[in-house]
Amino acid sequence: MKRRWKTAVITLSDKGYAGEREDKSGPLIQEMIEEEGYEVVEMILLPDEQKMIEEKLIQLCDEAKMDLILTTGGTGFSPRDCTPEATLAVAEKNAPGIAEAMRYASLQITPRAMLSRGASVIRKETLIVNLPGSPKAVKENLEYILASLPHGLEIMK
Ligand code: MTE
Repeated sequence: MKRRWKTAVITLSDKGYAGEREDKSGPLIQEMIEEEGYEVVEMILLPDEQKMIEEKLIQLCDEAKMDLILTTGGTGFSPRDCTPEATLAVAEKNAPGIAEAMRYASLQITPRAMLSRGASVIRKETLIVNLPGSPKAVKENLEYILASLPHGLEIMK
């Protein structure tokens, strides 16, 4: 039987947080990973504010003890984009292979994949993976890593 990995999904978007844009990427992540048997216990929407993102990541790792946190958005070159900085600031170990694999796979689809600065790291017993913001990019990136995640999560415990 597949393990029900405890997962939080965080959307980083100033416009989404202000209610000016509907968040389609968070719900898409939820749908894709629930299909794989993950248990999504938190859906969070935050603005592109590094300190707020760091505090939420720390709480989700240290107190809520998530197995997995998937973020979407804020990985690009816009001045406000700070998801990788927040993620690296709370990291205890880098796990760069996941981010590298996503860029590798995505580059076969669009050269703009090189513009995602997304990170993948470990804090305590939680894996944090940054996905880009658009639903298209979420689908293409997440699809590529899903098969390998359970083994990584398994050996972190
Ligand atoms: N990866 C895939 N697979 N498909 C995409 O369409 N878009 C890229 C990139 N990665 C894309 C992708 C683009 S255009 C940007 S700017 C970066 O992700 C960063 O996106 P973000 O700022 O929404 O996080």
